[in-house]
Amino acid sequence: MAIEIKNNRFHIYNNEMSYVIEISEQDDLLNLYYGARIDAEDIRLPSRGHNIVCNAGDSNVLYSLSVLPQEYPSAGASDFRSPAYEIETDKGLHTPELKYKSHKIIDGKPPLEGLPAVYTENDNEAQTLIITMSDEAHGLEVRLYYTIFENLNVICRHSEVINISNPYMYLNNAQSVSIDFPAGEYEYIHLEGAWAREKHIDRNVVHKGTQGFESRRGASGHAENPFLMFFDKGSNEDYGNVYGISLVYSGNHRFIMEQEMYETVRVQAGINPFNFRFKLEKNESFVTPEAVMVYSSNGFSKMSNTFHKLYRTRLCRGKWRDKVRPILINNWEGTYFDFTKEKLLAIADEASKIGIELFVLDDGWFGRRNDDTSSLGDWFENKEKLGGTLAELANEMNKRGLKFGLWFEPEMASPDSDLYRAHPDWAISVSNVKPHLCRHQLILDYTREDVRDYIVNRITDILGSANIEYVKWDMNRNMSDVYSLNLPSDKQGEFYHKYILGLYDVLERITTAFPDVLFEGCASGGGRNDAGMLYYMPQNWTSDDTDAVERLYIQYGGSLVYPASTVGAHVSAVPNHQTGRISSLSMRGTVAMNGAFGYELDLSALGDNELNEMKKQVEFYKGIREIVMTGDYYRLLNPFTSRHSAWMYVSEDKKKAVVYYVVKEARPENEAVYLKLKGLDEKAKYTINGETKSGRTLMNYGIVIDSTEHDCDNMIFELQSM
Ligand code: GLA
Repeated sequence: MAIEIKNNRFHIYNNEMSYVIEISEQDDLLNLYYGARIDAEDIRLPSRGHNIVCNAGDSNVLYSLSVLPQEYPSAGASDFRSPAYEIETDKGLHTPELKYKSHKIIDGKPPLEGLPAVYTENDNEAQTLIITMSDEAHGLEVRLYYTIFENLNVICRHSEVINISNPYMYLNNAQSVSIDFPAGEYEYIHLEGAWAREKHIDRNVVHKGTQGFESRRGASGHAENPFLMFFDKGSNEDYGNVYGISLVYSGNHRFIMEQEMYETVRVQAGINPFNFRFKLEKNESFVTPEAVMVYSSNGFSKMSNTFHKLYRTRLCRGKWRDKVRPILINNWEGTYFDFTKEKLLAIADEASKIGIELFVLDDGWFGRRNDDTSSLGDWFENKEKLGGTLAELANEMNKRGLKFGLWFEPEMASPDSDLYRAHPDWAISVSNVKPHLCRHQLILDYTREDVRDYIVNRITDILGSANIEYVKWDMNRNMSDVYSLNLPSDKQGEFYHKYILGLYDVLERITTAFPDVLFEGCASGGGRNDAGMLYYMPQNWTSDDTDAVERLYIQYGGSLVYPASTVGAHVSAVPNHQTGRISSLSMRGTVAMNGAFGYELDLSALGDNELNEMKKQVEFYKGIREIVMTGDYYRLLNPFTSRHSAWMYVSEDKKKAVVYYVVKEARPENEAVYLKLKGLDEKAKYTINGETKSGRTLMNYGIVIDSTEHDCDNMIFELQSM
């Protein structure tokens, strides 16, 4: 790995990948190449352009920012494509033009202050290039950061915009990354969805004009995950140049692709410019969130595994990062708000008998909350409902051999809460305008330090009051009526971002104060299932949809970028509460054993047969969870395009593997399935179902599944090399 500069060309490379930037004769920063490893001195820019494109005013009509590929394109200085940033100075100047000023190369990777980011544990894991660009007339400097990893095809980018000399200026847009890909035929995938239907794969051909996706919800959102896969047309799991871009950010985002007249495609990702306007006083700077770019020359699978490894080991943090996660029972779908201490303990008794390790008490334990119309913000235990204190309840759980965990929704206030009655100005709303409620609740103004301090104190008190070893951090509505009494009128455009910075501040303080607690993020399921949250919480409640068939889609889509260790997955009751579908316990178990596994139903209402089957599932999962948490992941059969779904995990040393196969939708007279495995050692012999087969047979011929199929048929194969 290295970052070199020769003949005004930066070559950022490792063994498999190159990224080349050129400082042009006019000191523009040009984006020459991104892809499989090359020799940087061998390439040249194509010449394009004619008289109608603007040029620098000299004789070289072929040199024009209108068509040149650029690293961080400015607005209004003759590049008519989408700008990477937009400013307006106190004098109204808004056509800056950045020129190269200086650069610095450092070992390791500097943190992004106040923002989540990928990190290194050792300086020799990565190198960082920082290029400073400037525009004196506009009193502006921009620093571009590029970190390359030695052993992973990862480049992390972000930028920093600095007001050097204006009394003040507004930043109206600041993207984390901008890349100009050469003319070509491309496709892209994004993960679209809705509440309880998150992370569905949507694949499209890139066409002329601008296309993309975004969130304006104040959160990354259920509808569009902040992740883009941009790739050569026709790429698949094992073939093609694939570029994944994941934003380490939990707020409003935007991803665009703009194919222009010469067929090149500008790809950008960053904070959504929607209602974004940041005031920078003299010498103040703005740091964009980080964009993590993963390159694969071999299709989707390699890209996913690179993201998985990076996010599992260099984004997630803390004690639980490298640990297998406890198998949990959550009472939400089992009782909803309607529970008593006796009921909870009856569930816990069964949980403990079948080997479950953690009891999670969900919504309804605080204030007067017996439905979703009240008490958010009143983070005081309801002793009457709990039949005592949380400490006593935790103690009862511990006596049964279970850890105890608790649900919070700390960013909210119910209008019917003591907190809101005492501090109506703490909620986001416009004065004298009746705010829009979602799920009967308002959002607290996390741009305010007093609000953040209050919440940190309340949660600290509760977590300190009992042996609480797990927290589910929920967030159940998107932002409307965005206005903060805390901000002057010329800074209202900072609200969305400052809210997220406030959230990160609270998360940092709480997770630091309770380093042993396992935190799980949640936002009505996957409404904030993004890389930003994973920095604070190593797992996320994937979706409020616990139906096994629906989960095949959701988990398959999510696996493109997020590792299984971050995926909360539970077995729930049938008929399923979201879809009414009845699937077998066996299938529900198989599908849920793909992440942080658990149950979410009333165990005390089940008969012995089901409990015995669950006991076996729990035991089985304990045997495979290490490989599920840390193994390489391969998608084998795509539920979006097939009646079946299959996937597998392979241990890093390739000695063990676990293969899953599920019939999503049976049909009579079905074809035999040749399930071709991946990622094994070709030459090794593996035991599988009492037989011995070579890695190459298993990968090239596959496992033949020729039984008559029925809905919910499923198999898990364990492989062990000899
Ligand atoms: C959200 C979560 C659920 C549950 C409820 C409680 O919908 O996603 O898992 O915690 O809130 O109100």
